[in-house]
Amino acid sequence: MQSLIIVSNRLPVTIDKTIKKSSGGMVSALEGLGDKFNIRWIGWAGGVVEDPEKKEEITTELKQKFNFSPIFLNEGDMEDYYTGFSNSSLWPLLHYMPSNVRYEEPWFRKYQKVNRMFAEKVLDQSDPDDIVWIHDYHLMLLPSILRKERPDMTIGFFLHTPFPSYEIFRCHPKRKELLEGLLGADLIGFHTFGYLRHFRSTVLRILGIESEFDHIPVENSRCFIDVFPIGINSKKFQEFLDTNAFTRRLKALRKVYSGKKIVLSVERLDYTKGIPRRLEAIDLFLEETGRNDVIFLFISIPSRQSVPEYRELRQEVEMKVSQINGKHSTIGQVPVHFFFRSVNFEELCALYALADAATVTPLIDGMNLVAKEYIFCQKEKSGALILSEFAGAAQELCQAYVVNPYYIRQISDTIKQALDADEEEKRRRLLPMKKRVKKHDARFWAESFLASLTPRCQKVPCPVQLPGLSPEAMTQIGHAQRRALFLDYDGTLAEFKRIPENAAPSGEVEKILFSLSRQNQFDVYITSGRKREEMDRWFSKFGLNLIAEQGFCYKEKNADDWVFITHEADLSWKDNLRDFLKLHTGMTPGSFLEEKTASFVWHYQNADPDFGIWKAHQLVSELQDMLSNLPVKIHHAKKNVVIASVHANKGAMVSHLMAMKNYDIALCIGDDDTDESMFLLSDPKTIGINVGVGKETGADFQYPSPKALLSFLEKLLEQTQT
Ligand code: UDP
Ligand code: G6P
Repeated sequence: MQSLIIVSNRLPVTIDKTIKKSSGGMVSALEGLGDKFNIRWIGWAGGVVEDPEKKEEITTELKQKFNFSPIFLNEGDMEDYYTGFSNSSLWPLLHYMPSNVRYEEPWFRKYQKVNRMFAEKVLDQSDPDDIVWIHDYHLMLLPSILRKERPDMTIGFFLHTPFPSYEIFRCHPKRKELLEGLLGADLIGFHTFGYLRHFRSTVLRILGIESEFDHIPVENSRCFIDVFPIGINSKKFQEFLDTNAFTRRLKALRKVYSGKKIVLSVERLDYTKGIPRRLEAIDLFLEETGRNDVIFLFISIPSRQSVPEYRELRQEVEMKVSQINGKHSTIGQVPVHFFFRSVNFEELCALYALADAATVTPLIDGMNLVAKEYIFCQKEKSGALILSEFAGAAQELCQAYVVNPYYIRQISDTIKQALDADEEEKRRRLLPMKKRVKKHDARFWAESFLASLTPRCQKVPCPVQLPGLSPEAMTQIGHAQRRALFLDYDGTLAEFKRIPENAAPSGEVEKILFSLSRQNQFDVYITSGRKREEMDRWFSKFGLNLIAEQGFCYKEKNADDWVFITHEADLSWKDNLRDFLKLHTGMTPGSFLEEKTASFVWHYQNADPDFGIWKAHQLVSELQDMLSNLPVKIHHAKKNVVIASVHANKGAMVSHLMAMKNYDIALCIGDDDTDESMFLLSDPKTIGINVGVGKETGADFQYPSPKALLSFLEKLLEQTQT
């Protein structure tokens, strides 16, 4: 059976005198998958255990009872990795609270160290074909650490928090490392499309990588991204709701709160949950309605008390609660009942069922399971869910009473409206939500994530649309007497650079250019869009034939002069276009204009990435109208727009040289729109090869990157040697 290794910061256990498994959504989701996978779980067992014997004992018991493997953190790890980097740096960042973000260098070093500890454990516990599923923000570096060690491993990552917009994420000193860490995964899952959208745009702006609609290209591979909203442990809730114990507990609570309306809040005491504002809304409600039959029950689960903001929040909340109670209590009625502790599962179900309304008003929340659990536990009557529009759950539970958690009056009015609503209205809202929560439960979530991840197990080493050169094509080349190689430069031989002048040949590229100049199997033409002067400067030392300006002119390897194949090219359109293009450049900060003999190139690789693309589309559309009757061709190439004379055409140059030199075969290799004219030649003696992934091309074959092309060229030279 296939092994599935779950990796999360915490193991779902509590260790007291005995070890007990806890019952979160993830546990139940995975229990349901036991017939498909052999499941193992790696995580921190909680607390600090120093004694080696105790560690051994815990490890054995966890392994035997649950197939869990613990990670042990020492005092320092806990302080820097958990309290520091995870909960004082990442948590506020991911929840749009940059003013709460703190950062210290040792925290990040410890975060790296602990992520590596997790990696070692995973590597130790797994076989190459196991599936690894990593959870949440504590382990954002882990996917790439594992990928480096095991390039073929199947790795999923799910983020349980929101992913904020680029403007927030960019505040973090380690933004680049965190993103690169995540991109080691085969699939990253988010709760909502909004988080996915922010992730894509952050990757574009920080790493400069453009995403396809469903994946992010990473070296020789793809990191898929998708949306999987987590659900609740519905089976466990249903089982308990059907018991007599539940009915008895509910009855007992009803007796305690008889004659009262109950408005329930359940959450970890966390500054993301919007508790102080909710209390202000309650204050306003009590002031305006004067009602003394409503009790606001708060179950505030103690959380992360080692982080100062959480301790301060506790003080603030307790102070507000006592102020409200001091102001609005009457004999026999205290409006806010505040519990700073957790409740057991049975108590929680009874409270959900008892409450006339639940107030779930986080300022932001990845999903919020409490909202879904409350809906599910409505049995005999219909409770009203008051839900923040900034909780991930609001995407699914749109029939709730949706509020803006910053708008105190709206929350107060909505509590009033919900408590006054008739049963019919509440039922109308509840039923569709209940149906959704029941169907899209935790098990559904885990199954859909894994169903999306597992096809990635059948990985091909280089995900290309077209295969590399076929044996038949190799034979055709082998049999030819006179062979030519038309080789584009930028993006084909050399990686694309943000500053074009920085793309001069170096290292491996120089090596291949020298070997191309030493061989005699092919006449080689470097076929570029660059200017003649630049081509002379960069390539003359290799002694190769050169084609400049998209095929407008060429220079043979031993010649002194450049040859233009057309002398009558009409270039008058350039004078009319120059000022317009300069204006466009000025309107797009970071872009620049290059003028060549027969073309202009407007580059936007250094502009804001989204704005650059937008302005490029605008330019192409305007130019198409302006130049429709002129001998000009417009190409939207890689991060640039080329406006060139129809005589600056690589395909036409290839045809011209084929006829002149009588070649039996020509390999035309390129990566962008300006190379397509070579690929579209109908001459059976030409073979088109595209360098890139997933782009539409008229080429016959494809290599995913310049690196892959270089190794193909080396092989080609070897095989055609006589
Ligand atoms: N919960 C708990 N102890 C309690 C009350 C609630 O463990 O005393 C559970 C609750 O059932 C829910 C989880 O805590 O499943 C809270 O998850 P949620 O997504 O609402 O918020 P998070 O704590 O993940 O921010
Ligand atoms: C959130 C996080 C979880 C975390 C939980 C409890 O739901 O997304 O990863 O386990 O809070 O936080 P704690 O710090 O107590 O583990």
